[in-house]
Amino acid sequence: MNNDHAKNIDIETIKSVLEGKSAASDEDGIEVHSRPGLLDTLKTILGPNGWVSSTESDSYITDITGLGAPCIIVARPDSTEQVAQTVKACAKAGVAIVPQGGNSNVCKMAVPLDGQDVVIMSLMRMNKIIHIDASASTASVEAGVLMQTLQEAAIANDRIFAPDWGARGTASVGGAVATNGGGLNVLRYGTTREQVLGMEVVLPDGSVWNGMRSLIKDNSGYDLKHLFIGSEGTLGIITKLVFKLHPHQPVTQSMMAVLSEMSRLTDFFSMAKNIGGEHLIAFELLPGLGVEKALARYPDLQRPLETRSEWYLLVRFAGQSSVEESLMQLFERGFNKGILSDAILSKSIAQEQNLWGIREQMIPHQYFERTMLKWDVSVPTNRIIDFLSQAKEAILAIEPGAICYAVGHVGDGNIHYSAFPPDSVSTDIHQQVYDVIDELIWNMGGSIVAEHGVGSVFVDRMRNQKSDIEYAMMQTVKNSFDPQGIMNPGKLLQQHH
Ligand code: MLT
Ligand code: ZN
Repeated sequence: MNNDHAKNIDIETIKSVLEGKSAASDEDGIEVHSRPGLLDTLKTILGPNGWVSSTESDSYITDITGLGAPCIIVARPDSTEQVAQTVKACAKAGVAIVPQGGNSNVCKMAVPLDGQDVVIMSLMRMNKIIHIDASASTASVEAGVLMQTLQEAAIANDRIFAPDWGARGTASVGGAVATNGGGLNVLRYGTTREQVLGMEVVLPDGSVWNGMRSLIKDNSGYDLKHLFIGSEGTLGIITKLVFKLHPHQPVTQSMMAVLSEMSRLTDFFSMAKNIGGEHLIAFELLPGLGVEKALARYPDLQRPLETRSEWYLLVRFAGQSSVEESLMQLFERGFNKGILSDAILSKSIAQEQNLWGIREQMIPHQYFERTMLKWDVSVPTNRIIDFLSQAKEAILAIEPGAICYAVGHVGDGNIHYSAFPPDSVSTDIHQQVYDVIDELIWNMGGSIVAEHGVGSVFVDRMRNQKSDIEYAMMQTVKNSFDPQGIMNPGKLLQQHH
């Protein structure tokens, strides 16, 4: 099935509008006759502090993957009304919009692509916490609130905002929802999707859907918010949210352990669930290679254990009172069974922060000056051991000089996997590696895109993960919300020209 509507608004049409060759209608009084016309209109809508020119937009077009393609302007609205007016003007001009939160995505999701003329819509000025209702355990916020800001505000109300990952100080909650981010606490609290009760969205024609409900139960028809969660800005722009909060568990303690028997990882995870119950918050796998790289690069991080190992585990328990006894019990059981050979239990907040500081620097992008082949693997948790051994074997069979690197969230089956072949290796070999490992993941009933999103990095490979019928349903959803194809084109779904 083709994206016929999107095909109709092709790049030539967009260019001719921008060059002033065609005049869009202005029935709402929005004058959009040319590129300068559109830019002037946007500047009027947004006010002097509400936009950044394309020549000063480097920080908006650069992400972890590097400097991206240019945009024609960065819109920085401070209200839903400004978002709606901006979208309306862009829709009239047939100019595409790339919505952006904290720009910490790792799949080239929130930056322009080559050959596009787009407006970046940064939501970061919409950063108000509207209301925290501690008795109902909900938070109503604007989309540009930082994850860390909401975490802190929730704790001040004796509650937890559950989503959490290393980029908490940069990532916006709107971006977290648009990507359905996962992170460190999914095992205990679920993905970002499970935290969302309601939302407000500006649709691709500039109309506003107010779905700011805070109901646990609402079977009054299609639950439309779920379409926008994980939609990567391709269906509309999330402007406000209602989140579920959880009871605060003020006492936390973590154990970093040396895993001596990878083949017993799943057994040990079962032990942690049995002993920890609802106190088990996170269960992470760390590569020894990454730990050494992090300690070498960040002198503020302290080496927690003298024992060097190929693999470590980082486990967090939390509760209303001490969790030390159960964490000790877990260690002793793992040690007695020969699964763990050494461990450290944090004895202070600073020690615990050090352990998690190491975990958060396991990001492979920063450590190897080679091309990175990437998988954001999701497999059933009892297939992780098989995946790790089979993937490494398959990659080394193709390219013995490759570095294989894995880190991730054992508790929810999500392993960030990467391979770094030597630079002399051709792109044909890269493709061969992708094909073999993608297939391995699919044969295990897994996904190559667990929590980082598709963006543009996974867009072609993800097509092969979907049956024709599933992909066609996704395109139908896209076309019915965004018939012009102006919302974040080339992301999540393949773009047809
Ligand atoms: C992580 O788990 O470390 C994050 O998803 C960040 C990343 O993989 O880049
Ligand atoms: Zn992760």
